[in-house]
Amino acid sequence: MCPPTYYTVRDVKNPFMQSAQAVDHDLAARQWTALRDAFTRAGVTTLTIDPVEDLEDMVFAANQVFVGKGARHPRFIVPSRMRYPSREREVPYYVAWFGERGFDVVDLELDANAGEFLEGHGDLIAHPGSSRVWAGHGFRSSKTGVDRFARAMEPEGIRVTPLALIDPTFYHLDTCFAPLNADAVLLYPGAFAAESLELMRQTWTRLHAVTRADAERFVCNGVAVSGHFIASHVSPQLEDILAREQLQPLLVDTSEFEKAGGSVFCMKTFLD
Ligand code: ARG
Repeated sequence: MCPPTYYTVRDVKNPFMQSAQAVDHDLAARQWTALRDAFTRAGVTTLTIDPVEDLEDMVFAANQVFVGKGARHPRFIVPSRMRYPSREREVPYYVAWFGERGFDVVDLELDANAGEFLEGHGDLIAHPGSSRVWAGHGFRSSKTGVDRFARAMEPEGIRVTPLALIDPTFYHLDTCFAPLNADAVLLYPGAFAAESLELMRQTWTRLHAVTRADAERFVCNGVAVSGHFIASHVSPQLEDILAREQLQPLLVDTSEFEKAGGSVFCMKTFLD
C-alpha cells in the first residue's frame, strides 16, 4: 500500500473524477489507515512504499505493476504502461520497490505511441487458485497491450483471457469484477461486451450480478480475503451473496478515494 500523503484529485482520468468534490485530506488519511487495519484484521501483512510528492494517484497501488508467479520466473512483475503520463511517472518507483525485494522484472517494453497500454491489476485479475488471469481492456489497458501481455505469459504457464469493457464508468476491470472464490465472481454485467460475458459464464459456476447502483458504489472493488469481503458498501442483495459464499463483510469507508475513482481493491497490490 502507499500512504495518501500527496493524494488529491487534480484532473479527470475517469468519470468519477468529473464531478468530484474537494478531497478531505484528514479524512482520507484516516480512511487509508482504517483500510490498512482492516487488511491486518483479515490476517494480511501490509507493507508500504514511500509516497512521492506530486504523484497524486500513487496511493492506488494496484496499477503500476502486475505481480505474478510463473514457471520461468517464480516471482516476477510486469511494469505497466499507463494511459495518463501523470500516472506513468509512478511506475519506476514501484518497479524499484519490487526489484529491491527480489522480484524479476518481465518488461514488455510496451509502446504508448503504438497504443499499447497495460494498467496492472486494475485490469489484470487472477482467478483464485489457478494460473489464469482475466484481462480487461477498452478504456485504460488496450487490447494490444493485453495481447502482448498474454503472449509473454505463455512461457510462464499463465493463461490470459481478455474481456472487453464497454461502459466508461467501469473503466478498469476491478470496478466491475470481483472474484469471491474459485467458483464465484461478483460482477456488473452491463460493463461487458456480450461475448466477454459468455466467456465468464462458461468458466464460473456462480456469476453474481450486482445492480448498477451498487456497482457505482464500488462493491465490485471489494476484496475477498481469508473469509472476509472488504468493501466500502454493502446492500441487502450483496449481503445475501456474501452469506452464500461464506464471506463476512468487513466495511471500510473509502469515500475520499472514490472521488478519484478508486476503492479497496485499487489501494493495494497483493504480493502473493
Ligand atoms: N484516479 C485513478 C486513475 O484514474 C484511480 C485509479 C483506481 N485504480 C483502480 N485500480 N481502479 O487512474
